[in-house]
Amino acid sequence: MERFVIRGGNKLNGTINISGAKNAALPIIAASVFSGEPCRIENIPEISDVRMMMKILRFIGAKVEAPEKGVIVVDPSGINPEITIPDEMTRKLRASYYLLGSLLSKYGTASVALPGGCYFGVRPIDQHIKAFEALGASVNTDNAIVNVKGEELYGSSIYLDVVSVGATINAMLAAVMAKGLTVIENAAREPHIVDLANFLNSMGADVRGAGTEVIKIRGVENMHGCTYSIIPDQIEAGTYMVAAAAAGGDVIVNNVIPKHLESITNKLEDCGITVIEGDESVRIISEGKHPKACRVKTSPHPGFPTDMQPQFATLLCICNGTSTVVEDVWDNRFKYVDQLRRMGANIMVNGDTALITGVDALKAAPVEADDLRAGAAMVIAGLIAQGETYVENIKYIDRGYEDLIEKLSGVGADIKRVTYDED
Ligand code: EPZ
Repeated sequence: MERFVIRGGNKLNGTINISGAKNAALPIIAASVFSGEPCRIENIPEISDVRMMMKILRFIGAKVEAPEKGVIVVDPSGINPEITIPDEMTRKLRASYYLLGSLLSKYGTASVALPGGCYFGVRPIDQHIKAFEALGASVNTDNAIVNVKGEELYGSSIYLDVVSVGATINAMLAAVMAKGLTVIENAAREPHIVDLANFLNSMGADVRGAGTEVIKIRGVENMHGCTYSIIPDQIEAGTYMVAAAAAGGDVIVNNVIPKHLESITNKLEDCGITVIEGDESVRIISEGKHPKACRVKTSPHPGFPTDMQPQFATLLCICNGTSTVVEDVWDNRFKYVDQLRRMGANIMVNGDTALITGVDALKAAPVEADDLRAGAAMVIAGLIAQGETYVENIKYIDRGYEDLIEKLSGVGADIKRVTYDED
């Protein structure tokens, strides 16, 4: 077994270089099946979710090589779309369902076991199915396997009933080789949606409007290989921004697109933290004392990201006064609060709202990661708690944070990955 052991109280000073975006890499790897030729994808984060997506592509017959750190080359020519992607794979990686859209569009068929992923509320896929059916595909689910079929797909108008990143991505993937024009309305606008569109267009697709709520896709008959570099990870960057704000110090979070971080920067400034934007960096200067309380409400991009909610709530635990955090995207994303309470946090949760009354300091305690971003929150809590915090279930953190120990130790954190015998 492995855990993180974190001794709190160190200020953070120095530079952290951000890796490629997990939530862009996963759909882009799924989209690499479109070309008849190899695709070289750069700035890929070395995280377990990416390794799982690579394993899934190999399982259906693609050749996937990793010639150097941060680079993969996918040769999809050997793919057999009749192979069902099994539960033991999709249970580990929810994003495996992006292959429904890309395999359907390229081969006219796909079968993928119902997805798993972090559990924080109901995670339906009704909007994905609505998009596939709008394009003329037939969708049926038996034995928890989703089967989509559609030899001929035709462009259509798709109005998403809810702003959904996954459904927007799957609709885009299914539409790029459908005949005619597809218009996706009420689309998600996240940076990773734009990155996927740019990747598809570099393979010869015709996707316009990504990043707005209306995406127009004109189907193409052929797509070719390409070389593409993934955008920096907005949520990884935000996580380290908040860690620096909470621990105090002077940290440059480097290799970012500051515009993607605006909502996080804005909230940190509401708390009285100094944020200095560079061309490809943000600098966080914090006294590490008690920042000002503030109000946070999560919403789809360009609003405050739900994937930053647990991390920011941890900062608010040591703020002066009472803050409110409203989770407006997921039904139940406050499970991690129980872990923070073990460290002395004063948080009341009522439905979609958490009331956080700042305390003088958190106290170290054994805690566990309930999911990826909750795990990141536990790391931030350990950095600011008095004493030595153990964080268990760190496999969740490894899903989305490349070289976390090296990055935090590099700016002065006292954090170690420790292997121990469970007995
Ligand atoms: C993506 O999940 C991200 N995962 C999540 O990040 C992130 O929290 C989420 O988008 C919101 O930004 C990846 O990109 C791999 P949604 P996704 O579809 O696509 C409802 C992380 O930490 N909905 O945008 O599954 C849904 O219930 C992960 O990296 C439907 O009702 O999220 C939710 O309330 C955790 N029907 C809302 O939409 C559908 O068919 C947003 O979900 C689909 C979604």
